[in-house]
Amino acid sequence: MSFKIIEQATARLNRSELAVPGSNPTLFEKAAKSNVDVIFLDLEDAVAPDEKDQARKNIIEGLNDIDWNTKVMSVRINGLDTQFMYKDVVDLIEKAPGKLDLIMIPKVGTISDVYAVDMLCTQVEDAMNVEKRLGFELIIETALGMQNVNEIASYNRRLESLHFGVADYAASTKAKTTVIGGPNPNYHVLTDIDGDKPRHRHWGDMWHHAVSKMVIAARANGLRPIDGPFGDFGDKDGYIAQANRSATLGCEGKWAIHPSQIDLANEVMSPSDKEVNQAKRILDAMEIAKKEGKGAVSLDGRLIDIASIRQAEVLVEKSKLIASR
Ligand code: GLV
Ligand code: MG
Repeated sequence: MSFKIIEQATARLNRSELAVPGSNPTLFEKAAKSNVDVIFLDLEDAVAPDEKDQARKNIIEGLNDIDWNTKVMSVRINGLDTQFMYKDVVDLIEKAPGKLDLIMIPKVGTISDVYAVDMLCTQVEDAMNVEKRLGFELIIETALGMQNVNEIASYNRRLESLHFGVADYAASTKAKTTVIGGPNPNYHVLTDIDGDKPRHRHWGDMWHHAVSKMVIAARANGLRPIDGPFGDFGDKDGYIAQANRSATLGCEGKWAIHPSQIDLANEVMSPSDKEVNQAKRILDAMEIAKKEGKGAVSLDGRLIDIASIRQAEVLVEKSKLIASR
């Protein structure tokens, strides 16, 4: 192991994250009663420019008046290149102090973008004597943001998670897509010519590199990597397949742009009973070895290394968080 200790962000359950447009407050109560782990009320792309002020008011009212129960609450503010962002931050902290857990910053391109929002939040929080500091969720969804993701993720204050914003990322990189967050049939390998035998197409995952790069940046800095939207909410199998791919690469949650996607995300992103039991067995074996003064720990005839122990601890911790919901 490196001598450098990676400090972990505040531990939160983030298997599912529901996007709710701030311009449609009729959806707020239903979201509050859902099974979702994190809710972000949106002021950015789901809200038209002439509805921004009203959406901001709706969100502030909703944060103050609705019982959000155990939900982790976030608001997606507008981008730093707009005239709306400063007011989003100032009004949210001044008019709903202490009600929010997180702020989601879209289209982060450089580490200075995070610095700027941190500076603004800190000023308003200090002026309001707000003790609970907002955490930041950053959407990596531009070529610039992806190019700088390692540096961005190393900003060591307030950061909790990185999110892959696949729709804007496709637009920014001019990628050719068919479904938001899904595969494209053109991204395939064609098997070689072999006489008259039929040639097969093997579909590839066009998002593999981007998601993987973001996961590495997040994990190297103790942050949660979260996969973004899957546009076709009628396609449950497609959603599950994508969620499984990102979970396999290390993501620990996925967005739901429709309530029907919440349970799918929770299911894919929760450890199975078998995995939790195995993790507990690893930790038990470690305890016994410690008591017996043994340096090396083995289970089922295999040596357990430090990395497996860490993984087991994370899994058991997560299962405790799930059980506490
Ligand atoms: C999310 O914001 C996306 O662009 O996919
Ligand atoms: Mg976006």
